[in-house]
Amino acid sequence: MISAEASVTTSVRVALGDRAYDILIGRGLIAEAGRAIAERRPRVRAAIVTDETVGGLHLAGLTASLQAAGIDSVPIVVAPGEGSKNFATLETVVRAILAARLERGDIVVAFGGGVVGDLTGFAAAITRRGMRFVQIPTSLLAQVDSSVGGKTGINTAEGKNLVGSFHQPDLVIADTGILDTLSPREFRAGYAEVAKYGLIDDACGGDELPGQGQGGRGRRARDGRAGAAQSRPHLRTCAGIGHRLFAAPRAWRGRRDLHGAGARILRPHESLLAG
Ligand SMILES: NC(=O)c1ccc[n+]([C@@H]2O[C@H](COP(=O)([O-])OP(=O)(O)OC[C@H]3O[C@@H](n4cnc5c(N)ncnc54)[C@H](O)[C@@H]3O)[C@@H](O)[C@H]2O)c1
Repeated sequence: MISAEASVTTSVRVALGDRAYDILIGRGLIAEAGRAIAERRPRVRAAIVTDETVGGLHLAGLTASLQAAGIDSVPIVVAPGEGSKNFATLETVVRAILAARLERGDIVVAFGGGVVGDLTGFAAAITRRGMRFVQIPTSLLAQVDSSVGGKTGINTAEGKNLVGSFHQPDLVIADTGILDTLSPREFRAGYAEVAKYGLIDDACGGDELPGQGQGGRGRRARDGRAGAAQSRPHLRTCAGIGHRLFAAPRAWRGRRDLHGAGARILRPHESLLAG
């Protein structure tokens, strides 16, 4: 479970002018989430969108954190998994936000993996013509990848992520302690993503950050995505190359591999990009 002791080990400012936001990274940060939101957006109310698995394990802790900071919240719980990134669940989420009478200046919190993040971000983008939203990613993949960069959306029968929008979060809170409850399979999928961004960053001339292993790579992945999304087009290009390379064997294998697992398949080919 989540440690009661919170510590922000890193704070990264994503410099996007009037849409700039912070990424807070540290163990036990759920306990600080209410305060972090209230400092930036006083007197807001919140909807917390989560899935049944993450909600069952961690929703009470997040709700208490918000409550302690004077933020009333309503939970919106969806089924876990990719199947929730669809129009029907999007409608459920949007209508639950409206039913809770949240105003445009209130907050929608995405509390879960990449599925919840993409779905919630899109719901926030289109509800009341654009509501503020906070990403509290709970899978490693979401912490290092999908919660940063502002890409939101759902799947349709025609394909993945074909309907969506760019909508930057107001704040990202990555509590590394919450990863303790993640299954080893999902953890490996996220770790492969960390390796992928390390590869892309190395191939495209990114600077080395201090630190080894998951922490350093994880921070670099987040920094890389934030920058690539808006201000470093060469990194975006490299990221695009990487995604296509990683997608190819997935399609060839004819399987619905986990997003991150695709990255591992190409690991032996890192030298192609580095050369
Ligand atoms: N927006 C972007 O830029 C971007 C980038 C990459 C991937 N994505 C999207 O992200 C999605 C994949 O994200 P994902 O891998 O996080 O999948 P996911 O959201 O389905 O989470 C994986 C599983 O882990 C569970 N889980 C999450 N956090 C947990 C925790 N702390 N403890 C226990 N269980 C937990 C979830 O309930 C789920 O069953 C895909 O839809 C993909 O398209 C988006």
